[in-house]
Amino acid sequence: MKKINSIEQYQSQYEKSVENPESFWAEKAENFNWIKKWDKVLEWEFNTPKIEWFIGGQLNITENCLDRHLESRGNQTAILWEPNDPTEQAIEITYNELHNRVCSFANVLKRNGAKKGDRICLYMPMTPELAIATLACARIGAIHSVVFAGFSARSLEDRIKDATCNIIVTADGGYRGAKTIELKTIVDKALETCPSIKKSIVLKRTGGEVNMKTGRDVWLHEELNQVDNICPAEKMNSEDELFVLYTSGSTGKPKGVVHTCGGYMVYAEYSFRNVFQYQEGDIYWCTADIGWITGHTYIVYGPLLAGATTVMFEGVPTYPDAGRFWEICDKHNVNLFYTAPTAIRALQARGNQFVNPYSLSSLRVLGSVGEPINEEAWHWYNDKIGKGNCPIVDTWWQTETGGIMISPLAGITALKPSYATLPLPGIQPCLVDSDGNEIEGNDVQGNLCIKFPWPSMIRTTYGDHDRCKQVYFSTYKGKYFTGDGCRRDEDGYYRITGRVDDVINVSGHRFGTAEIEAAIDEHENVVETAVVGFPHDIKGQGIYAYAICHSQPTDMDTFIKEVNKTVIEFIGPIAKPDKILIVSGLPKTRSGKIMRRILRKIAEGDVSNLGDTSTLLDPSVVEEIKTSAGLG
Ligand code: WTA
Repeated sequence: MKKINSIEQYQSQYEKSVENPESFWAEKAENFNWIKKWDKVLEWEFNTPKIEWFIGGQLNITENCLDRHLESRGNQTAILWEPNDPTEQAIEITYNELHNRVCSFANVLKRNGAKKGDRICLYMPMTPELAIATLACARIGAIHSVVFAGFSARSLEDRIKDATCNIIVTADGGYRGAKTIELKTIVDKALETCPSIKKSIVLKRTGGEVNMKTGRDVWLHEELNQVDNICPAEKMNSEDELFVLYTSGSTGKPKGVVHTCGGYMVYAEYSFRNVFQYQEGDIYWCTADIGWITGHTYIVYGPLLAGATTVMFEGVPTYPDAGRFWEICDKHNVNLFYTAPTAIRALQARGNQFVNPYSLSSLRVLGSVGEPINEEAWHWYNDKIGKGNCPIVDTWWQTETGGIMISPLAGITALKPSYATLPLPGIQPCLVDSDGNEIEGNDVQGNLCIKFPWPSMIRTTYGDHDRCKQVYFSTYKGKYFTGDGCRRDEDGYYRITGRVDDVINVSGHRFGTAEIEAAIDEHENVVETAVVGFPHDIKGQGIYAYAICHSQPTDMDTFIKEVNKTVIEFIGPIAKPDKILIVSGLPKTRSGKIMRRILRKIAEGDVSNLGDTSTLLDPSVVEEIKTSAGLG
């Protein structure tokens, strides 16, 4: 597929994509192998909502990721896997081998009862088998639900139940830095109350002791001995579900965002190629985990659709030391590197002595994703890592958008630190005020919406279409609402200012304040909690919890430890509060709504202007909280 190569071309493509979206996307879709071509490009309305792309088309995404490359690049490395432990051998898997391994794995799934349309949960460490399992599901038309292996048994259980998965693929354990995580033990706990799971397929990674339940649990390596590597790809309709991925929103439990086969495929490839300006032969590395959308679209599908070499890293940026990312870049001659601001800030904080030993001369493009990148981190990334000559693509998008929406195209779009800059062709963002009126012109700020469909957009929330409608399509009629605030500057550049709803972004991970509150409330001494985000130097946002207790804890350290334990049990270690403040009351309006604005201000340590507190049921609560926070 040809990519955009100048800003003029970007502009003309953009105009074309708005004037005639259908012919624009049909042309992009022509570049794939379709089993049957589509009859109609698009049908949509944003009320129900109903969004359908490439209607009547049939395809299998794995044929496009694998089979169609075999003739031209069968012996090229598809996945380059770097283990957690730098002394362990890296593994190169060619397109030929990956094709074989995906087919074998698909046969293992079938052998264990998997069928088209089944939901299969993947709870795995960042091993090649995770990418292979993902593709194996797609091969047979099963819907994968990857759950990040840092989530707790409870979170896993909720996700398995919501999608009624019948198979889970996991590992005995996983390595993350100096830690070993006993994944199988966590799965066993989750499965105690998940009768829908009939089979658990277990990868041997750590060799740790595990319980294998007869009839349910099987070893992957033993299963692989029983199958061949021939597995024709299942014929899928464009709008058949490809995967579900759980993500947090303002209210309730995480919801399963559903993506479908055709549109997702077209947009994953298109956005990958254009944003990173991928060139044949490039080594590309995205440091995300496949448990998040970034890993789905930009470790697995996007790069493989484009025939790239995608690096997969099992470990963490600080193990064995804070130079690991840069060591890997040099070792594998990485050209395109994509990471999150939180990692950049954490590594910057460790000092330049961890960067200096590495040449980083292979790098050509740097990417950022998941949260706003502050100027200081941007400049360090640009100067120390990019040596001033690698464009930084600050890519704004979401689990729901499936792919990058607003971003510079590397080397084409003029950059401005902390700006995601311009929408990709086909993406029609707009800013709206709180009454839902579109804000025209430049040098303005508002809530970010998208007013026209794009191929990889969310289709539904699993098992609950009305929730999809309520969350994304009801706030502003006829528009998809992102939940983000945004500024459009005098040049028409977009700068994401952060969430305007009750979602917080901690180290690039999304949490609803409500789900953390629900977890803390499980502690027996807690009556009620209110959680807000506050600015955090490394994590972007930290978690600040205000808790009302039945009785004042006798020992605060023990109380904090217990609350952390509860949060770890209900969500996972990544959702642990950074601060817990015991308060006697919460600032509520007469209708019982917590005024989070006030709590956010106090968490920031800025009580100079708390705004109007006259609608509070009991305004004196505010003074008490200020005093408890040491700001009185
Ligand atoms: C935030 C991650 C500023 C935003 C791909 C969004 C960003 C949420 C950026 C989605 C960025 C993501 N600049 N903010 N470049 N990228 N965000 O679903 O608030 O895990 O709504 O998808 O992350 O997070 P999610």
